[in-house]
Amino acid sequence: MMLHIPGVLSRGDAERLRQAVDAAEWVDGRQTVGAQGARVKQNRQLPENDPNTRALGQGVLEAVRRSPLFMAAALPLRFSDPLFNRYESGETYGLHVDGSVRLASSGHVRTDLSCTLFLADPETYDGGELEVVDTYGVHEVKLPAGDAILYPSTSLHRVTPVTRGARVASFFWLQSLVRDDGARGLLFDMDKSIQALRAKHGDSEEAVALTGVYHNLLRRWAET
Ligand code: NI
Repeated sequence: MMLHIPGVLSRGDAERLRQAVDAAEWVDGRQTVGAQGARVKQNRQLPENDPNTRALGQGVLEAVRRSPLFMAAALPLRFSDPLFNRYESGETYGLHVDGSVRLASSGHVRTDLSCTLFLADPETYDGGELEVVDTYGVHEVKLPAGDAILYPSTSLHRVTPVTRGARVASFFWLQSLVRDDGARGLLFDMDKSIQALRAKHGDSEEAVALTGVYHNLLRRWAET
């Protein structure tokens, strides 16, 4: 499942984060990938394991944790430390799949879901679409600053060349309580339907019963 999460950061917070990120020192993005990724990756990143990157990344994680939509869809257990990337002057990241396990400051994280938080508005650069390939074809993503896209880390994806301006984003991976994308998607659909039922009819007996089913399925499928 791919999910657009609007307004993870307000316009003001996105702008402040962008300024902090712009002021930091950038390094070659190939430092954080394996051999296959290094052949197709051309961009810059903030240095991993750097206190400033960590502090900015914590701000990103706090923001996504405040988003009910993100939490309901991702059911996160553990996060990688967020990184920041910048593409300009034709830079691109060719088709690849992300590594399956990342070592984060909190320990190992199985990468079930990938998340990109956009920090540049689409009209400020050309190219730089995130293209994600799944069983239904290729999806192109280019979102306003402050919005995020969540997609399965099992997907092949690329970032097309940036031919004008700069594409700046934060990205991270997470291990979900529910490993299977299909099972997690069912829970998310059920959660949305329960919320809609409650909005329409209040806490009816049926809504309470369905909430019980939701939690019992989550109890059955959750791995911690
Ligand atoms: Ni990737």
